[in-house]
Amino acid sequence: MAIPESFLDDLVNRSDIMEVVSGYVRLTKPSGANMFGLCPFHGEKTPSFAVNPERQMYKCFGCGKGGGVINFIMEIENVPYRDAVEILARRAGLTVPESGASDDYAEKRRRMLDMNRDAARHFYKLLSSPIGGAARDYLVMRGISKEIVTRFGIGVAPDSWTLLLDAMLKKGYTSQELLEAGLVRRKGGSGNDGGGRGSGGKDGSGNESSGKDSVGNEGGGKDSGGNEGGGKESSWKESRGTYDVFRNRLMFPVIDVRGGVIGFSGRILGDGEPKYLNSPETLVFNKSRNLFALNIAKKSKAGMLILAEGNIDVVSLHQAGFDCAVASLGTSLTAEQVKLMSHYTEKAVIAFDSDEAGKRAALRAIPLLEKTGMSVKVVDMGASKDPDEFLKKHGSDSFKTLIGRSDNHIAYRLQTIKNDCDLSSDEGRLFYLNAATMLLSELGSKPEREIYSARVAETAGISPGSVLAEVDRKLKVKTAKQRKDFEKKVTRPTAAALGADRAQREKNVYSAVAEEGVVRCLVLDPMLMRTASELGFSAEEFTSPFLAKVYGMLQRRISEARDVKEAFILSELDPGEASRLTGILDKPEALPNSERTIRDYIEKIRAEKFKAGVPDTDLLLEIKKYREKKDIGGI
Ligand code: GTP
Ligand code: MN
Repeated sequence: MAIPESFLDDLVNRSDIMEVVSGYVRLTKPSGANMFGLCPFHGEKTPSFAVNPERQMYKCFGCGKGGGVINFIMEIENVPYRDAVEILARRAGLTVPESGASDDYAEKRRRMLDMNRDAARHFYKLLSSPIGGAARDYLVMRGISKEIVTRFGIGVAPDSWTLLLDAMLKKGYTSQELLEAGLVRRKGGSGNDGGGRGSGGKDGSGNESSGKDSVGNEGGGKDSGGNEGGGKESSWKESRGTYDVFRNRLMFPVIDVRGGVIGFSGRILGDGEPKYLNSPETLVFNKSRNLFALNIAKKSKAGMLILAEGNIDVVSLHQAGFDCAVASLGTSLTAEQVKLMSHYTEKAVIAFDSDEAGKRAALRAIPLLEKTGMSVKVVDMGASKDPDEFLKKHGSDSFKTLIGRSDNHIAYRLQTIKNDCDLSSDEGRLFYLNAATMLLSELGSKPEREIYSARVAETAGISPGSVLAEVDRKLKVKTAKQRKDFEKKVTRPTAAALGADRAQREKNVYSAVAEEGVVRCLVLDPMLMRTASELGFSAEEFTSPFLAKVYGMLQRRISEARDVKEAFILSELDPGEASRLTGILDKPEALPNSERTIRDYIEKIRAEKFKAGVPDTDLLLEIKKYREKKDIGGI
């Protein structure tokens, strides 16, 4: 009695883990990326139960339980899988499909992409129709050209309740399909209105985000139009109950690198709340894995990607000739987005808004971008609040100069530290030195450490030698601590995951560490599956049956172009397995280049296998493979 996979993915998408867990556990304020509470699975007095809204998983650092939203319900309600799914479905206002219902996942995705494309055409057409007048005026007011409108496929959702709904029904789509794509919502629906997660829960919790956290009310039932439509709403609601999500908005289609219209970002025409409304997470739309305008920017010859905050900024940049501008989709930049960028460029230029939130977002983005080996620059737009305003005031040549002049991220971060300190007092200088040397001790290259130590010394008014000495000291402390942490973190859960057989455990622990690494890499960057297949790597090479199973799941999902986000994988596992996997995924990925990293891991697995002595049967297989290869090679 299998539940269709597409339904499960959809259910997980619509069940925000923060909201679900909050029904059982009081979560306190965020610490880093997590919210904490008292673990419901074991008695404790200080909170060690963490929920991560971005990754949609929970983990208790005390008892080690962890998993995704389905696992949570199974554990806390003590119910089997099927019942947990039912509970969540009821919550989200969905009906679990009858068993035996067809589940052609790929087909469903394709249809949703088709429908989105048709919706985009509908919005685009309306822009040049009589009803698009207000939007055209708005475009003129913002100085957006016709050519750019066409290039981006910008359109309009007029101030009406069912224009899109009617047009799409006429084209043969069902209201259920429109609902699942987040294009319409149903009166009184809680989960079906696109307000599930990805809007409220996920983005809103991003206190790290750019401060535009009004995201929280973007899709929720709360803003279901009551305040905008008044009496008009109730009358048609009675009759139909289903209405367009996007109304009175300038519509930007979000197009992925393969050219599929995966969702929409709608900016209100004029003033009003929320300013932007994005499609919810759907079968085809994943905000944390896509970037606005990357479909265009990926073809740029500029040799870099400019990362802006707003859609309007991106559009303005393109209009000014910077065809390499992209923006994240209303959330703070994620590791997945960074990975995606790194496939197209080695140079990132951050052009976030000039306000405090933008600066904070830049400081958060720098290490993420750096980790993939990209070089990072940050532009300083002075008194202009964002690239759009800067371009309007000073023109594109000035912006080009700005990019050329922009500091690399180290200088930028040092400057930020300096701005926070009062260098005229001794305490202030000490504070500066401490923070600055801490930053420099993070630099991987020795020459860089030396160069910037000299700069810091100059600012603080002491000798370069003593700054460098302090940097080296901090570096040593850090390396020692890292080694210790690494040993603790890496070997303990791995050993536990390998089970009770001690001999088995010791034999395999090195391989298992690498096997976990492979799994982690793939969850972070599914494109790496290509590297694994190039190396002819297969699930049979795992020594841990559990990890082999997870690898198999990843492989299948990736080949079907499905999302491999933690939350989905976890939801296919029983709670015991889910806890194991959260333990594994939670380990930091220490190495920078994941293409190389996954190669190294695979090599390590093979080296360990070789060391362990290949069993006879496998040896035969190896010989056979070797012969075949020789044949192919024509030797
Ligand atoms: P203008 O003020 O018109 O220039 O808009 P902008 O495109 O520059 O946007 P802004 O700098 O205000 O916001 C940057 C980005 O944050 C937007 O592109 C959205 O992705 C996101 N954002 C801003 N406001 C909201 C909101 O109310 N809800 C959601 N979901 N996202 C928002
Ligand atoms: Mn802006």
